Amino acid sequence: MKGRIVVAVDGPAGSGKSSVSREVALKLGLTYIDSGALYRAVTWFYLERHGPLDAAIDFGSELGAIALTQDFLSDGTSITVVNGTDVSASIRDEAITRNIGVVSDAVPVRNFVNSLLRRWASSRSIIMDGRDIGTVVFPDADVKIYLDASVEVRALRRIKEYGEMGKTLDENEVKNLIIQRDTQDRSRPFGRLVRAEDAIYMDTSEMTRDEVIGEMCRIILDRRGADPSPRQDQSGS
Ligand code: DC
Repeated sequence: MKGRIVVAVDGPAGSGKSSVSREVALKLGLTYIDSGALYRAVTWFYLERHGPLDAAIDFGSELGAIALTQDFLSDGTSITVVNGTDVSASIRDEAITRNIGVVSDAVPVRNFVNSLLRRWASSRSIIMDGRDIGTVVFPDADVKIYLDASVEVRALRRIKEYGEMGKTLDENEVKNLIIQRDTQDRSRPFGRLVRAEDAIYMDTSEMTRDEVIGEMCRIILDRRGADPSPRQDQSGS
């Protein structure tokens, strides 16, 4: 693919953004950036320092102590490192999910994460997923896709995912957690989950994973064909 391209993928928890974006990245030679992993990594850092978190903590004052990197590997996995510690597995713990709300609501944290995301994307073609990528992080992204699926389908996908790891989850409990996360993501004062006006909406409830990947690749390649001029490099680093 010629020229630098920025693809923003947003959508609610469990819509499959991360898994399909990784695959699209491998197929099209893009770098995948997992913005949610950054919020998780910052949460991991504060949990290590403070234990259980609440909104009274001044998250902004300690951000300078966080050195964060993320590498996208050729097998489609990402390695996220905080101050020399590989946190890729530990950021998936339940404790992170329980405490991440207050961290991702904090404006200094959002500014910190957003500037890292923009820096990492500045010199290469990327596909980035999250909640506010097409609205706040890259409002001028070349391609914006909003992936959605019904609560029922997202819950079943999550149950299947955990089932493959040998864990059994209660369907109602998973559904309630998804509804709770949707509410939290959609009511955040800054960077809330909202579909950008110019995003292509895909309801994946009735689609297979391969169909979603195929459709996303088609959309991106079409866009590239329509606008072959390379983007200007915005970076310096
Ligand atoms: O995509 P994920 O579930 O790993 O994201 C973890 C949390 O981070 C999620 O609760 C919402 C938050 N998040 C955010 O506020 N903005 C983003 N761009 C990505 C994630």
